[in-house]
Amino acid sequence: MAEIHAPQATRARALPTEWWRSAVIYQIYPRSFADSNGDGIGDLGGVRAHLDHLEALGVDAVWFNPWYASPQADAGYDVADYRAIDPVFGTLAEAEELIREAHERGIRIIVDVVPNHSSTASPWFLEALRIGPGSASRDLFCFRAGRGEDGELPPNEWQSIFGGPAWTRTSNPDGSPGEWYLHLFAAEQPDLNWENPKVREEFEDVLRFWFDRSADGIRIDSAALLMKDPALTDFDHTDPPFPHPYTDRDEVHAVYRSWRAIADSYPEPRALIGEVWLPDADRFAAYLRPDELHTAFNFAFLGCPWEPDALRQVIDETLAVHAPVGAPPTWVLSNHDVPRHVTRYGRADTSFNLEYRQLGAPTDRTLGLRRARAAILLTLALPGSAYLYQGEELGLEEVEDIPEALRQDPMFLRTQGENLGRDGCRVPVPWSGQEPPFGFSPPDAREPWLPQPPAWRDRTVAAQTGDPDSMLELYRRALACRRGEPALGDGPFTWLPAPESVLAFSRGPQGRFVCVVNLSDRATELPMAGTVLLSSGPLDGTQLPPDTAAWVSNC
Ligand code: GLC
Ligand code: CA
Repeated sequence: MAEIHAPQATRARALPTEWWRSAVIYQIYPRSFADSNGDGIGDLGGVRAHLDHLEALGVDAVWFNPWYASPQADAGYDVADYRAIDPVFGTLAEAEELIREAHERGIRIIVDVVPNHSSTASPWFLEALRIGPGSASRDLFCFRAGRGEDGELPPNEWQSIFGGPAWTRTSNPDGSPGEWYLHLFAAEQPDLNWENPKVREEFEDVLRFWFDRSADGIRIDSAALLMKDPALTDFDHTDPPFPHPYTDRDEVHAVYRSWRAIADSYPEPRALIGEVWLPDADRFAAYLRPDELHTAFNFAFLGCPWEPDALRQVIDETLAVHAPVGAPPTWVLSNHDVPRHVTRYGRADTSFNLEYRQLGAPTDRTLGLRRARAAILLTLALPGSAYLYQGEELGLEEVEDIPEALRQDPMFLRTQGENLGRDGCRVPVPWSGQEPPFGFSPPDAREPWLPQPPAWRDRTVAAQTGDPDSMLELYRRALACRRGEPALGDGPFTWLPAPESVLAFSRGPQGRFVCVVNLSDRATELPMAGTVLLSSGPLDGTQLPPDTAAWVSNC
């Protein structure tokens, strides 16, 4: 196990420079946010045209899924050039303008850095293919000879996280069958060799490139996977395929220590945020040591069922994991890789894990919405920072009936449709109007890259604005309240006594802010006197109905 540095006291209140300790960060999936030029695909012009929405919502920062030059084999997570914007999204000049405009509105920008793998269309990979085995160019990736008489078998049995083998065979420059290369994801995403100093230098330079362009932080894709077991040891394939047992090596921490030094070298320190899917709490916390990443996504909370004991346990474990390293926890309900939580919470089994997506399970949308409303009040009241995934503020559900021919996720394609994949949470955002594309694209545009359900006419930003009962207005009120409430964000947290299946906790040094969530099947008396600041549904006098949450000021 990696050694944990000495505990560091959690600050009562984040310094302004440590904005990530309390920030509410909105995730933009650029393909699906807004399309400005009518090709049916979202772009930076679309984001710039909708900054008002983000400002009215009241978020502190935006994280962009990859916007770089890419063949889009995995929706931009196959990066061909980390310093260029894909023409489908716009230009580098536009990205710089966007960062400037967001900053003018007090919104910080986080870019996605994808260090584990590159693209088969990257100059490095094309050169490695051209120059051939044994070259320095090949050593930037994980090329190996195959097994078997003629090297016709992959170097080992590792499987891709998207399904199928994690190796693809190449042809030699003379056309004969050649070496294999490793790809933990799609075949178009060759893994980089992090033992090679040139790879390290390249990414340090990429970090500086975006930090110099005023990006306020980076989200690090697949952060625990970078360094592989050099022996390529095989393992028991009955193990869950993710995280891979041959990654998460101690050597990776040196990479993040050097990134942290770069982030800290700016007068306004930049945030390092890791996507770290690791069930082992100590190994997870090791990434958050004081000289490594600032925060990491909390997938235990995301996967937790909507059940009082499980939620309480996951909250306790989260706090316990973060406290010794002094890192603020993060909370997230949805993202571009998981079924939307309105849908998850409307199922009989409300839990989530990567191997068990339950797509197509019967769903009670009304119940899911009710719980999602309560869940956002719970999430925004917990200590640390929080992530919102575009469209959750509209109560969008997972779209489960996308025709097979239109599905684009490599996870779907590589499993021959056995795993429906992630397209259902990536459907373009509805902004206005009565029919698709609901203002996503300008008039007379091509159809959106994934079809929007006609029922989304009720879920548009325009339809919900001004409706006090809408999800959007709940999010706006909750975020405004969070901004004005010093007890929220980073800082003290205390469980309060509460009836069975009710979660109640206070925040702040005097405990003057209280959040109550009723996960039981009957109404419960609010457990204290005070002013109700906000509730996720109507109260019945002082009774909090089932699947409802309230924020109460106790002073
Ligand atoms: C991360 C991303 C996911 C992507 C994968 C490969 O898990 O969130 O969308 O497919 O990495 O880059
Ligand atoms: Ca477009």
